[in-house]
Amino acid sequence: MQVGLDFGTTNSSVAVYDGQHLRLIPIDPINANPYILRSTLFISRDGVPYIGREAINRFTEGNVGREIDYAWTYIGDAEVTLADVGTVVQALYVTVDANAPGRLFQSLKSSLRDRAFSETNVFGTRYTLEALIAVVLRMIRERVEAYLGRPVTSMVIGRPVHYALDIEADRLAFERMQAACVAADLPDVTFLEEPTAAALSYARGIQGTERRVLVFDFGGGTLDVTIMLLDQQGNRVFLATDGVPVGGDLLDQRLMMGRLLPHFGAGATLGPRRLPFPTHVFEHLAEWQTIVDLTQPRYLAIIEEGIALSDKPREMRALRSLVRQNYGLPLYEKVEAAKVHLSEQAKTVLRMQMGEIDFEEQIPRWDFERLIGPDVRAVERCIDRALNAAGLQPSDIDVVLRTGGSSRIPRFVRMLTEKFGATRLQEMDVFTGVASGLAIAAWERTHG
Ligand SMILES: Nc1ncnc2c1ncn2[C@@H]1O[C@H](COP(=O)(O)OP(=O)(O)OP(=O)(O)O)[C@@H](O)[C@H]1O
Ligand SMILES: [Mg+2]
Repeated sequence: MQVGLDFGTTNSSVAVYDGQHLRLIPIDPINANPYILRSTLFISRDGVPYIGREAINRFTEGNVGREIDYAWTYIGDAEVTLADVGTVVQALYVTVDANAPGRLFQSLKSSLRDRAFSETNVFGTRYTLEALIAVVLRMIRERVEAYLGRPVTSMVIGRPVHYALDIEADRLAFERMQAACVAADLPDVTFLEEPTAAALSYARGIQGTERRVLVFDFGGGTLDVTIMLLDQQGNRVFLATDGVPVGGDLLDQRLMMGRLLPHFGAGATLGPRRLPFPTHVFEHLAEWQTIVDLTQPRYLAIIEEGIALSDKPREMRALRSLVRQNYGLPLYEKVEAAKVHLSEQAKTVLRMQMGEIDFEEQIPRWDFERLIGPDVRAVERCIDRALNAAGLQPSDIDVVLRTGGSSRIPRFVRMLTEKFGATRLQEMDVFTGVASGLAIAAWERTHG
């Protein structure tokens, strides 16, 4: 059986096509929508992997609200040269979270372009990034085979047009993705650009003549723009592609950093001389995964000082609770939910009451739009570059296909409407359109 797999930054899905019928595979039976699997991996302390909704649930049950308990481990001595003191020998200790029931990984696809993430230690076992992704891929394949009752014989897997802007980082990312497929022992894998896949699934439904299509695929990690000539048979000629590493994860970050930091003590001053509380602490709140950095003793000491000496002790206690009780993930889930809500409503309320965190933030849509202004411009420039490369004007485009969860954001819809006109915009199945097209491509490979 040939299948198409969309391995997304946030969500993954799988489809099969037999030349007539297109079928999505329920790869996450416990998810609200079983055809969409969150691209998450949880590895328990004893090395058992879980993916999707179950990964999030296991992490949340075991970790969130639990007071982190540190064990200090001596790892050796090091020579340290300090400006005023000279060279001294220092004992090196690392703190490990003694009771963590497991580690959760999210947005692994975005890490592909990050040279600094090569491997990580999970309770004594080293995992390369490729190995982590391979675990997810292998489990997806097993679920597909269990559901279909037949072996998967070949796969077409989606890839963004650009994993990264930098050519070297882009190549590294793709090589690692290929290595992950090899490590997962996937049969006969080929890759297809995600927007091409979206266009293929659209081509099945069109009538009449050839048209110029611009695919606007805006997901969790990347925006991909592709312009192609397409006919009803699915024949296509690429005119241009472009992409930027801007996606829903980054927009969550804009909301977090732009609106919520004061609830965790940003702007506080220390003592009677009103010295500013170190702002670099807050940079670690830019992703839920980096919040855990603040459990290092030197940061905890700063936070304790903030509780004792600052003019915002309540907010500093919220920060301590966020850090020490692992509320980073639920916080980011609330931020994401607020963002999604703002796609429907003109304003939303983000409320959080967990541990010592207790706040309510009213967020109007216009303010979210202000915060993402630079990203809207980056996205627009990306479209203009693609049009330029194709030698086309916006009026030459017959259809703009919107796919990917972030393509629902009104600000981007408005930008597209202003550029291309409302009648040319078409929303695809935002979460499964790519997988459907990949399934069609997989079938074409063996029958076309
Ligand atoms: N209604 C909505 N409004 C705004 N954002 C949304 C909405 N629905 C989903 N999203 C966002 O879309 C993103 C996920 O979209 P999608 O599943 O298409 O991404 P992906 O395919 O996993 O990522 P990529 O294609 O970049 O690898 C998340 O950031 C999510 O918050
Ligand atoms: Mg996608």
